[in-house]
Amino acid sequence: MTQFSDLGLNEALLKALRSEGYDTPTPIQAQAIPGVMQGKDLLGIAQTGTGKTAAFALPILHRLAGNRIPAPRRGCRVLVLSPTRELASQIAESFRTYGKHLGFTVALVYGGVKYGPQMRALAGGIDILVATPGRLIDHLQEKVANLSATEIFVLDEADQMLDLGFLQPIRKIVAHLPKDRQNLFFSATMPGEIGKLAGDLLKDPIKVSVAPTGSTVERVDQRVIFVEADRKRALLAELFEEAKIDKAIVFTRTKRGADRVAKSLEAAGISAASIHGDKSQAQRERALSAFKAGACRAMVATDIAARGIDIDAVSHVVNFELPNVPESYVHRIGRTARAGADGSAITLCADDERNLLRDIQKLTRQTIPSFDRRRDQALAVMTRAMGAQESATSPAKWSPVEGTDARPKSRQPHRGGGGRPAHSGQNRGGPDRNARPASHSANAAAPGGDGQKRSRSRRRHPGGGRSEATPT
Ligand SMILES: Nc1ncnc2c1ncn2[C@@H]1O[C@H](COP(=O)(O)OP(=O)(O)OP(=O)(O)O)[C@@H](O)[C@H]1O
Ligand SMILES: [Mg+2]
Repeated sequence: MTQFSDLGLNEALLKALRSEGYDTPTPIQAQAIPGVMQGKDLLGIAQTGTGKTAAFALPILHRLAGNRIPAPRRGCRVLVLSPTRELASQIAESFRTYGKHLGFTVALVYGGVKYGPQMRALAGGIDILVATPGRLIDHLQEKVANLSATEIFVLDEADQMLDLGFLQPIRKIVAHLPKDRQNLFFSATMPGEIGKLAGDLLKDPIKVSVAPTGSTVERVDQRVIFVEADRKRALLAELFEEAKIDKAIVFTRTKRGADRVAKSLEAAGISAASIHGDKSQAQRERALSAFKAGACRAMVATDIAARGIDIDAVSHVVNFELPNVPESYVHRIGRTARAGADGSAITLCADDERNLLRDIQKLTRQTIPSFDRRRDQALAVMTRAMGAQESATSPAKWSPVEGTDARPKSRQPHRGGGGRPAHSGQNRGGPDRNARPASHSANAAAPGGDGQKRSRSRRRHPGGGRSEATPT
């Protein structure tokens, strides 16, 4: 079996890997590292949790160490783009860990936080810059950032970055990069038509595919439970009681849904935090660190947490609702059973979600074992009890004691279903405002003349827009 030392990596990297306890390279690492070390472009496909981050970070650090030049002012030597802030932070952390004996600068650029520190970091030049697209574009427009001397460009979660919600911002950023550069794209999924788009950006790439795109990790024990939509909360509480769920990420389709499910778990005595795009960055970070530290058993999340996030010992992933995009299923369940561990994925499927389940089974080329809990009396009783408990605890909340004007409009009970919670406005006026328009405007301006991509996204997002799928 190949050892890290066989790959010819810089001794400072081998030393860091030893202290991390990495013995042998994973298949994607063994296959990708040599080509990337030589400066080749690469498209790397491998299942979730199989070490794609080190597959690009190690050879990149090796190359930088082999050619120590000052980082360009206002720019970077390496640019890594990620779809979410949390993933960007994690990637930066990996570069710091693997590169701890090399002394390179690593910095983050993303929305939801102040501009000043990012501008100051950029001014002096950064060796490795990890960014989400929206905020980076702000810095480019303000001419605070200049990417013209970037040597290596990485798209992590490349298929999401080249899908409708991010394509336009990515194109803008690519226009600022020099033509002569090394491109590295990685993901666990790569739908055919997006693969073609990726191919246009890569120059004579090496293609490494450890498993067919969309493959799930075999060690994830997968199950589907058919159940009425209004009994899912009762079933979820029951699962936490009976299925020995230690530490679970529960995915919902909407931000409101995430808050509602977290609340109902709490009401059932199960500690839960929620994370989604309407939360402030500080709230997002708090939820994630509470969950990582084991302070809560459940983290209820939208697809903002579906990709790339690496948290130790997540025993279960629960799909409270099925994702609209089948690839999301692969990424969501990939939050468990990482780096050789075991894990379980339980999907709660209502009758009107069966077509989504079919798409998932087609993509993953498997039939997921299913169980039928429809018309289940125990769940009916529990659902009624939960309903009674909610109405016993909540009337004061909505009663117009102080008159309706005393309360922000959107915090009143869901009337049309379409209203946004009040705190979304807070984001718009706050520091996050510039991260949002980028993905939103990209939504509005679907890439012209590309009917195929457009119809693909339309088909997949009947709810209109990919705000859940393009969080920054
Ligand atoms: N060679 C190795 N030996 C042991 N552990 C490793 C090795 N390479 C990576 N890991 C660990 O495996 C975990 C998953 O790695 P990583 O996050 O890079 O996976 P990934 O392939 O990017 O997954 P995803 O598709 O979900 O983003 C991390 O905790 C990482 O530290
Ligand atoms: Mg990853």
